[in-house]
Amino acid sequence: MAMIKILVGTVYGSAREVADALEPIFAAKGHQVEISEDPEVSDLSDSRYQAVLISCSTSGSGDFPPNFIPFYRQLDQQRPTLSHLRYGLIALGDSAYDQTFCEAGSKIERLFGQLGANRVGQRLDIDASEHFQASEAALPWAERWLNHFEAERSV
Ligand SMILES: Cc1cc2nc3c(=O)[nH]c(=O)nc-3n(C[C@H](O)[C@H](O)[C@H](O)COP(=O)(O)O)c2cc1C
Repeated sequence: MAMIKILVGTVYGSAREVADALEPIFAAKGHQVEISEDPEVSDLSDSRYQAVLISCSTSGSGDFPPNFIPFYRQLDQQRPTLSHLRYGLIALGDSAYDQTFCEAGSKIERLFGQLGANRVGQRLDIDASEHFQASEAALPWAERWLNHFEAERSV
């Protein structure tokens, strides 16, 4: 059993819906999930969590949702070492925003990489122009992500 923290950045609720849809998939494999729309830098070093998942949309012009901005800013200022951290990343966006498609996800991936965090599996970009329901794209990804996560844990 693992405890997985999901940090949500959302304006209209889709990234939260994705997090909610993942919970039963993880529970079916015996894992527990905690979801937060008020992410804290300390979540990344909390030993209760064996992994952190980010589900974050892009807003404005390649910007973060307002609820995610304090977390990102503090992380960028404090720059803690995250070499202990295993994380997964789901970026929500819309390819109609050609130049800034899923830019918030790209920024998170860049910063987490600089801080030494270990990404589990591939990042998922969910295109609102392609998926009316974001969770429809997230569910098959979550199965694959869990397989990677469990395989790495058993090494
Ligand atoms: C005002 C506005 C600005 C947006 N800007 C971007 C953007 O720069 N890049 C992008 O990929 N998607 C952008 N989007 C699309 C959202 O990221 C997408 O609809 C996402 O599914 C919303 O998720 P949420 O409900 O969790 O906020 C924008 C949407 C709105 C309404």
